[in-house]
Amino acid sequence: MINVPKGTKDILPQDSYKWQFVENAARETARLFGAAEIRTPTFEHTEVFLRGVGETTDIVNKEMYTFLDKGGRSITLKPEGTAGIARAFVENGLNNSALPAKFFYLTPCFRYERPQAGRLREFHQFGVEFLGSRSADIDAETILLAKTFLDKVGIKNVTLYINSIGCKECRKKYEDALKAYLNENYDSLCALCKDRLNKNPLRILDCKNDECKKITEKAPKILDYICEDCSNHLEKVKKLLDIAGVEYKINPNIVRGLDYYTRTVFEFVSENIGAQGTVCGGGRYDGLISELGGTDTPGIGFAVGIERILLLLENTGVNIENPNKVKVYFAPMGEKESEKAFELVSDLRANGISADFDHMGRGIKAQFKYADKIGAEFVAVIGSNELMGGAVKVKKMADGSETMVKFTEFSEFILKA
Ligand code: HAM
Repeated sequence: MINVPKGTKDILPQDSYKWQFVENAARETARLFGAAEIRTPTFEHTEVFLRGVGETTDIVNKEMYTFLDKGGRSITLKPEGTAGIARAFVENGLNNSALPAKFFYLTPCFRYERPQAGRLREFHQFGVEFLGSRSADIDAETILLAKTFLDKVGIKNVTLYINSIGCKECRKKYEDALKAYLNENYDSLCALCKDRLNKNPLRILDCKNDECKKITEKAPKILDYICEDCSNHLEKVKKLLDIAGVEYKINPNIVRGLDYYTRTVFEFVSENIGAQGTVCGGGRYDGLISELGGTDTPGIGFAVGIERILLLLENTGVNIENPNKVKVYFAPMGEKESEKAFELVSDLRANGISADFDHMGRGIKAQFKYADKIGAEFVAVIGSNELMGGAVKVKKMADGSETMVKFTEFSEFILKA
């Protein structure tokens, strides 16, 4: 037997309706906020992510699925959605379109990580990217979109953490202060953080190692270093979230794992799904479009991990109804009856009602068992008597009640039922 590659999963019919539920909620929420769908390729030239996500990040250093194609080009499966969309924005000259450009996407992503609950090598994101506005309004709106989506799917008990990591100028000052402090504690840092110290010191702030956590608790805080403009921006975002009634906590240790962020960063975190509790992460990225060769265009967005959403729904007992069950199952008791069932099923389908009938030549008992398994709402039995009488016996599975319905009135009966 050949197994799926480690860190990937089949999404089977017993679960796919849950995915559809989450995806529909994503599409509907995006629509409410005026975002249109964008689809970019599953793979890009590696450079998109080197320049976009950043060469000092774990994603670029350790996690990318990169290979040479048969033409000798370095290709990478997308580890996230933002960089590819920024590339598409520049390449298609979308800065000349109506701004802000509001995009949403549903996409598979690929990261070579150690699989565990909520962490896969192929996973799926729902994300949005709003490009073209520097206003704090759009930061608040982006966060509100994420919150609206989480509410819509039934997620409760997530905490929204917000931070500002400043702009290029003020972050530099902060990084210098942070580095100086961390250098004093160099020996106690974990090996990974020792390595991060010169490349990407901010990342040390969200290291999960206990020793590093103790050190970073007393580290200088970025909010004491950000410039007046960045500070005012954050205050405005907070004010708008207050107006919208969205609860949040300011957390100076939220720094995010991708290099493109500037100013506002945020995460929605759950305590209910183990170590991988971040269900949604995002932030502003005012330098990304110019980094990829476009005209200076600000942007902000987020992505939600769909697997983590489903895990959270399961762990908190949220039930998702399967809307894809067959409404009517016909149980014919012979060949002629089967032909009638074929006709009636076609009729129902033409009227938009899902219907099916036996294709296995099963006896009546087995047919009822099958109908029950697939969750059919009604079972319509056609025996020789029914065929002669021009009517079917319809059993409502929920309460066992039976009704005789004429063939000619069948669709109408089901539509009303
Ligand atoms: P990210 O924090 O790397 O951000 O990923 C966003 C979300 O994707 C995470 O919060 C998590 O739910 C999910 N996720 C990430 N890695 C995995 C994994 N290995 N297995 C399962 N789920 C995972 C980004 O990707 C940014 N592009 C978000 C963004 C959009 N920022 C601005 N615009």
